[in-house]
Amino acid sequence: MTHRFWKFDPANAARLLADERAGIHPRDEALSLLKLEHGQLVADIGCGPGFFTVPMAQRILPAGRVAALDIAGDMLQHLRHRIAASGLRNVLPAQSEESRLPLPGGACDRVLLAFLVHELEAPDVFFREVTRVLRPGGRGLVVDWAPRESPIGPPLDVRVPAASVRERLARAGLRPAEPAEFGPYSYAVPFARP
Ligand SMILES: C[S@@+](CC[C@H](N)C(=O)[O-])C[C@H]1O[C@@H](n2cnc3c(N)ncnc32)[C@H](O)[C@@H]1O
Repeated sequence: MTHRFWKFDPANAARLLADERAGIHPRDEALSLLKLEHGQLVADIGCGPGFFTVPMAQRILPAGRVAALDIAGDMLQHLRHRIAASGLRNVLPAQSEESRLPLPGGACDRVLLAFLVHELEAPDVFFREVTRVLRPGGRGLVVDWAPRESPIGPPLDVRVPAASVRERLARAGLRPAEPAEFGPYSYAVPFARP
């Protein structure tokens, strides 16, 4: 079967900050599953305009920092305006490449991949890159759309089941935990780098 590529249109960035999203994607739960602590370096990979970035940055103050990475320059521009307005000084936006993260090896204590995996062009290469930037003992979290009908979300044929995410994480040398429901339409897969 041919893999179909699907990317969220940056022209619709504002939709990613809509109030209704806060109702269906429990952000606090994501931050708890990530076991965020003060002072950590967290990578928000595929950060978009910062739906998760801003609460994460607030949670890890004063010394913690969030590397906010996205391949879309327009998404990063949107995020820069938001962080300037919020006064946060611990968010570091950076342009990412499709399968290459602009971070040194072992740099991150935590990584978040929120609603990103279904957009990846080469998931196995990408997960190896995640392993590279996560320090041994570091933790991560994938949240994504469950492969079932929902009133919003990407087309069903691009969604990636939690079982397939777990297999790919394991192949990349990471240790996935059991998946959990994440709001009404999505799942969460916590993982760690041994
Ligand atoms: C559906 S949006 C989710 C944004 C954000 N994580 C959220 O939940 O609000 C997916 C984002 O991932 C970005 N993206 C897609 N492929 C990427 C890749 N290979 N590396 C980094 N970012 C990517 C897109 O530009 C887009 O901003």
